[in-house]
Amino acid sequence: MTTVLVIKANPKPTSASHSLTVLEHFLTSYLQLHTNDTVVVRDLYAEKFPDFDRDLVTAQRALSAGKTFADLPDAQQTRLTQFRQTTQQFIDADKVIIANPLWNLMIPGKLKAWFDTVCVEGQTF
Ligand SMILES: Cc1cc2nc3c(=O)[nH]c(=O)nc-3n(C[C@H](O)[C@H](O)[C@H](O)COP(=O)(O)O)c2cc1C
Repeated sequence: MTTVLVIKANPKPTSASHSLTVLEHFLTSYLQLHTNDTVVVRDLYAEKFPDFDRDLVTAQRALSAGKTFADLPDAQQTRLTQFRQTTQQFIDADKVIIANPLWNLMIPGKLKAWFDTVCVEGQTF
């Protein structure tokens, strides 16, 4: 079975967004041709996807310095778990579709935060 991970990186409703409208049409056609595929959708703005923040950096540095996961404060454990689950979700996907607008020649901030979560040395490159 093929898993398709769909990343929505646009705060607009679909009715007001070119990229999300294209995504909707694409997925409708895609699923007609790939009826057994599983589609997992992440809407980065709806879920307020977190930046690469202090809790995460502090937790990673603590682990590098020899601490265990259990040593970390609750907030850091929660953040690290969330980070790891997002990385694993990307690894588990067979196909990834990203829908985003162009903002000042860049991708939206939440999409950058997602890239920072799935580009993990030793795991995804
Ligand atoms: C804050 C902001 C910055 C933008 N920057 C660019 C840009 O650098 N280059 C460009 O071609 N379009 C730019 N646009 C236009 C959008 O890319 C364009 O409206 C696109 O259709 C947005 O996708 P959407 O309809 O899915 O939201 C910008 C729009 C916004 C709101």
